[in-house]
Amino acid sequence: MTTIGELARQHTDLSKEQIGHLVNLASEWGMLADVSFADLLMYVPVEGDNWLVLAQVRAATGQTLYLADWVGSQTSSVERPLLGAAMKSGVPCEGEIFIQGVAEDCRMVAIPVQFEGEVIAVLTREWSQRTGRQPGELERTYLEIFDRFAEMIVRGAFPFVGRVADSSVAPRVGDGAIVLDADARVRYASPNATSALHRVGISANAVGQTLSELGVIDSSVRQAFERREPVVEEFEQTPEVTLLTRCIPIVDDVDGEPVVTGAVMLLRDVSELRRRDRLLLSKDATIREIHHRVKNNLQTISSLLRLQARRLESPEAKAAVAESVRRIRTIALVHETLSREPGDDVAFVEIVRPLLRLVEESLQSPERPMRFMVIGDGGRLAATVVTPLSVVLTELLQNAVDHGFPEGDGGGNVAVRLHVEESELEIAVIDDGRGIPVGFKLADAKGLGLSIVRTLVTTELAGTIEMRPAHAEELAEVEFVPRDGNTGTVILLRVPLQSD
Ligand SMILES: Nc1ncnc2c1ncn2[C@@H]1O[C@H](COP(=O)(O)OP(=O)(O)OP(=O)(O)O)[C@@H](O)[C@H]1O
Ligand SMILES: [Mg+2]
Repeated sequence: MTTIGELARQHTDLSKEQIGHLVNLASEWGMLADVSFADLLMYVPVEGDNWLVLAQVRAATGQTLYLADWVGSQTSSVERPLLGAAMKSGVPCEGEIFIQGVAEDCRMVAIPVQFEGEVIAVLTREWSQRTGRQPGELERTYLEIFDRFAEMIVRGAFPFVGRVADSSVAPRVGDGAIVLDADARVRYASPNATSALHRVGISANAVGQTLSELGVIDSSVRQAFERREPVVEEFEQTPEVTLLTRCIPIVDDVDGEPVVTGAVMLLRDVSELRRRDRLLLSKDATIREIHHRVKNNLQTISSLLRLQARRLESPEAKAAVAESVRRIRTIALVHETLSREPGDDVAFVEIVRPLLRLVEESLQSPERPMRFMVIGDGGRLAATVVTPLSVVLTELLQNAVDHGFPEGDGGGNVAVRLHVEESELEIAVIDDGRGIPVGFKLADAKGLGLSIVRTLVTTELAGTIEMRPAHAEELAEVEFVPRDGNTGTVILLRVPLQSD
């Protein structure tokens, strides 16, 4: 989709600030289309005495004249005289137009858009007199509001400059609108606004009263009147009803001074939305609680196994059970971390650090002093990725210690290097030990450790594994100086990450 900014830069000489004004206008004008029950178009003059449509919006309250999208196209000759007149005179010009495919009389009012003393564009309201709505009180009030905002556009006072409350989350006119007078008294409340007031227990006729007299929280109104700019506010009117409001002041020029002479307050009942938010929050808490319990259960299992190992005689059996204990503790650690995190992803380093400590505690011995370090950052990963990765990482750390520095070798260093690039996580486990045995092939490795690694990485995580002697630069990067004869080993894992 072409944006206002792109179109304006391509086809006009408008400055950055001028384009910014038009972008602001287009982010605010949904409300104007709604209160005028008509299509609005934004035109700028372009070369060849022509006009280009920069933006278009339809009313949510009325029928559209244009099924097609005119953004980026040039005007037909029927609109040109009115556009030119508005541009030249600086005042709104109204007249009849003929629209192909629409038989009825159509009308258009061209409103010059002023910015810092200069007319930079023309906004048009285009509607059909036949299919238009029958004028009732709502229609009359809304059209009057439209005219007030149109006056502000002509004066350059609308859209509001500077920090303007985000209108994208704001309610629309159809959600409920209250028109306030200069004293912030209700002049008109739309049927939907009246219903919203009913839901919070206000059944009195609102007209003539201020919102605070009615018992509605009115800080958005007070702020909008004070600051002379739109204010968005959400509040719990009652414990059951949450209202989202946006108050847009109508600012007149009285002897050169800006004076608030009224306002439109749009309001929407967002109770249902917020109730679902709260449910989501409590779902989050439940998930954390479950992680906590899984962690406790795993710890119980590992304690049971440890007790069992004490009764075993064979050193081989003792070692095997000890390995299992270590693997289970790794998974418990992941659940423990997840039980503290909101949401179901976690910063991977937050897992890697305690993992290293765990390995350090269980493998450290005076004959084999080991130093572990993490470099880089793995970003935030989903729980489904973190658990298998943690198991894999423990195996690799265990191997680095077991095989890089067989007992009595004087110890050494192990580094875990994390790197994320273009939705791929690279994990390198680097040791400065004695290196891979001659003739060793990863594909033929029979040990349980590498089998676990292979299964998890290639099937569960759809990644790849590479095992090779360390490069000199890799060792230098982590300031490892291998002892004589040691080549060091690098195990490289590459795991694709889901980009969502
Ligand atoms: N960092 C390393 N340095 C040198 N050799 C390694 C390294 N990592 C693995 N190896 C070699 O790969 C072999 C297979 O490792 P694997 O983890 O599959 O089994 P294991 O460690 O011998 O036994 P297990 O992990 O099941 O207790 C090891 O025996 C060792 O020869
Ligand atoms: Mg192993």
